[in-house]
Amino acid sequence: MAFHHLLVTGGAGFIGANFVHHWCRRYPQDRLVVLDALTYAGNYQTLAPLAGQANFRFVQGDINDQRLVNEILEQEAITAVVHFAAESHVDRSILGPVACVQTNVVGTFNLLECFRQYWLQQGQADQFRFLHISTDEVFGSLAPTDPAFTETTAYAPNSPYSASKAGSDHLVRSYFHTYGLPTLITNCSNNYGPYHFPEKLIPLMCINILQGKPLPIYGDGQNVRDWLYVEDHCRALETVLRQGQPGERYNIGGNNEVKNLDLVYLLCQLMDELAPQLPVRPCQQLITFVKDRPGHDRRYAIDASKIRRELGWEPQVTVETGLRKTVQWYLDNEDWWRPLLSAEYQAYYQQAYDLDPK
Ligand code: NAD
Ligand code: DAU
Repeated sequence: MAFHHLLVTGGAGFIGANFVHHWCRRYPQDRLVVLDALTYAGNYQTLAPLAGQANFRFVQGDINDQRLVNEILEQEAITAVVHFAAESHVDRSILGPVACVQTNVVGTFNLLECFRQYWLQQGQADQFRFLHISTDEVFGSLAPTDPAFTETTAYAPNSPYSASKAGSDHLVRSYFHTYGLPTLITNCSNNYGPYHFPEKLIPLMCINILQGKPLPIYGDGQNVRDWLYVEDHCRALETVLRQGQPGERYNIGGNNEVKNLDLVYLLCQLMDELAPQLPVRPCQQLITFVKDRPGHDRRYAIDASKIRRELGWEPQVTVETGLRKTVQWYLDNEDWWRPLLSAEYQAYYQQAYDLDPK
């Protein structure tokens, strides 16, 4: 089914902005409204190329603002909400969990409730969707030989971040079962690619290498993540929105399980090869083991056979190709990431790593 008036929450963040650009390329006639609070993680510059296009509107605001959300739904005759807005960083959720609960749980609840009231006014038509973007972290941690997470794996979140995402998933699920609201949930593995905020592993390593700073590896570096190139995720979300069955959930993953330390070695090799100038070369000399993240999940892995079987989606970008593109993007786009290393970011870095970030 086609949806032509989209409200994208969190569209100035990493995945949301990639999704907005993806959708505008694919469906240039569609109306796209982005609602984003522009927290530290939101960056209007990422969307600036779309400013001035008649079909695009950016609203700076909070998903907790009931009046604003109602106004957008009605004024823009929204048919699909694509909900990315969240506090997304595990380490920040450990340092201070309040914002996580406020946005991820309460904010999602507000959005659901506004959308339900609006949908009721439209006669409960089937021509509407609420797509909730969630994470594999809700399933907890796997041992090395455990089978990958499926859509029926029990929830076992281990951080305030993943617990708040689990709470939001449960609310979305309940709105389908109780009210029949046409909802969809996706649980995706770790994304990487352009416009990724510097606090996350891959951009952090790229930017630290360029500055000759230590590359902090938590614990023994043997934790495993299943990496997915962000454009593959955007294609999956497009597929789920247009073809997914209301009330269903879909796991999305890259089939790319990599240990953190191996991933950082790969990034170092790529940087040595692609960067014209580096303060320290070979840059793997910068690798530094630091204290582990509290409650650090050992392994995530996604079984994405349902979305492949039912909707025909598969990842297209291998980790080798995706990482090469990503490293090149950070080399070419210093103008994008340099301003994000703000005083607020330096203070966060200092607190999180207990290292001198200068
Ligand atoms: P991000 O932190 O880069 O972006 C989040 C965006 O939400 C920012 O633009 C921020 O300004 C906005 N936002 C935060 N609070 C808001 C509020 N109260 N009202 C309006 N806007 C608000 O996050 P991301 O990495 O792009 O993740 C997007 C979504 O995808 C999240 O829901 C996350 O849980 C989920 N997810 C992320 C990954 C990943 O690897 N990054 C993987 C799976 C799922
Ligand atoms: O799995 C999906 C999740 O992936 C999303 O739900 C989250 O929003 C997203 O942030 C991401 O969470 P992770 O905690 O897996 O990503 P992060 O980039 O923070 O860390 C990846 C791994 O690298 C993790 O095992 C912790 C480790 N790490 C991270 C940082 C920032 C380090 O060893 N050193 C670091 O400095």
